[in-house]
Amino acid sequence: MCPKVNIDNYERPLLDFSPPKPRLVNIKDKSKINIRYPLIAPFSFAHIFWDSSKKELFYELEEPSLTPAESDYLGQIIIAMRQIINFDEIIEKNLESVLAYIDNMLKLLVAEMGKEISKETYEKFYYYLYREFIGFNEIDSFLKDYFIEDIECNGVGIPLYIVHRVYRNLETNIVFKNIQTLSNFVEKLAQRCGKYVSYASPILDGTLPDGSRVNATYTSDITSRGPTFTIRKFTKKPWTPPQLIAFRTLSPEMLAYLWLLVEYKSNILIAGGTSAGKTTLLNAIAFFIPPEDRVVSIEDTRELNLPRENWIPAVSRGSTTVEGTGEVTLFDLLKSSFRQNPNYVIVGEVRGKEAYVLFQGMASGHSSLSTIHGDSVETVIKRLETPPINLSPTLLNILDSVCVMTHAIVNNEETRKLREIVEIVDVKQDGTALTNTPFVWNSYNNKFYFKHQSKVFEKISHRFGIPMDKLIQEFNIRTKLLYKWYVKGIFDFKKVQELINQYYQEPRKVLTQFGLL
Ligand SMILES: Nc1ncnc2c1ncn2[C@@H]1O[C@H](COP(=O)(O)OP(=O)(O)OP(=O)(O)O)[C@@H](O)[C@H]1O
Ligand SMILES: [Mg+2]
Repeated sequence: MCPKVNIDNYERPLLDFSPPKPRLVNIKDKSKINIRYPLIAPFSFAHIFWDSSKKELFYELEEPSLTPAESDYLGQIIIAMRQIINFDEIIEKNLESVLAYIDNMLKLLVAEMGKEISKETYEKFYYYLYREFIGFNEIDSFLKDYFIEDIECNGVGIPLYIVHRVYRNLETNIVFKNIQTLSNFVEKLAQRCGKYVSYASPILDGTLPDGSRVNATYTSDITSRGPTFTIRKFTKKPWTPPQLIAFRTLSPEMLAYLWLLVEYKSNILIAGGTSAGKTTLLNAIAFFIPPEDRVVSIEDTRELNLPRENWIPAVSRGSTTVEGTGEVTLFDLLKSSFRQNPNYVIVGEVRGKEAYVLFQGMASGHSSLSTIHGDSVETVIKRLETPPINLSPTLLNILDSVCVMTHAIVNNEETRKLREIVEIVDVKQDGTALTNTPFVWNSYNNKFYFKHQSKVFEKISHRFGIPMDKLIQEFNIRTKLLYKWYVKGIFDFKKVQELINQYYQEPRKVLTQFGLL
């Protein structure tokens, strides 16, 4: 047993939520991978290694181990704490003061219960209490792992899976063992999203305070395996255009083209399959919006993040009550956005009748940027022309370009590519579309090609009275500039936005700064 000591003398350990990130590389021979990095230092770690029995990579979340006696004691402390305080109410306050509060409560309860604990046990308890009352229990460290993109739970007794930025889909050692714990956890997710789940309204679609997207189902149906949830983590700092060049997602030419299109108020749709990187590209090209212009963005769940002031972000709201009142849809938001007189309207994703309003908006003069599910231009046009969207060919003609994003395996690595940029030249009355494809990515040699002249450039030249050769010159110089930023490693979102804004005001100065003049 541990020596008798006064728990009040133990110093509260520091929880480091952003320990240094390792540099991870994917290697061909996965059986050689064995990596460990801290998540919440000094308590939790990610350990990724090759599981030779399953013949796959495994993600083990390492947390301090508790003896059965410690587990039991901790369980009692948690119950006692729940009875004393309502954590739901204090969660909004400053983290440090809540941590200090938990520490005080822990010390008080241990003293009261009269069972002394060692310093080591005390520190472990403190960590677990943080996780339980402030954090997100079993998955808290996953949420802190910079490399995790998605967290997926498919029910009771099934290991959680994560999507890792470098190693992709990995099984983990975290399992919700009983339905009650999992149901409680889904309720906690709902509550942290400011939403409500119940058996009567069992679908949760929300956003956590850190911006992560949550989808969950709440059920105790025994035939299914109980509640499920997926969390798409919010990359707090959006990826900037030069960063997408670094990822080889697209070419500097493609970006320079999109920059000009955005500047000259074109209408752009980004298409692609699930998690093909549509929203990420949308966010990146939104950096190109001129600083003085007014932007309204409309989303179901908050994903877009723009480092600009002149921006009104709006998020739709599902019904907040059991009766279904209080609902604000994308359609409602879009209609009201026109009254705000925006220069740019960004819609996170179009699915239904809001597409009609979006296209009408394009017709009324401002620029629209949005994403849509569909893996080719043909599918996208079909989707726009058929129910529930039902756009007329005339309205479709307002669209300038469609960017098609795709998943691709290159050199054994999962990547995202801007597969092609297709310009809508003419949609005929029978609904068929004449298109022009200035940019493509060739999967055989992993290169990007600038194939054709751009019809949208011609349109811009016409509409704004800019000679074509001027436009091409600008395209070339911006290509070089974007490439320079990439080479110099200028990725920070504030810095990139600053440079783009500066380029709008004093282009020659920026070009001189980067040796292009
Ligand atoms: N260019 C890229 N390179 C590498 N990873 C990327 C890239 N773009 C996006 N990702 C990663 O892929 C995941 C999905 O990205 P994103 O949300 O942009 O896709 P999406 O197509 O909008 O997905 P959804 O279909 O859910 O709307 C994110 O976790 C993101 O970190
Ligand atoms: Mg998206």
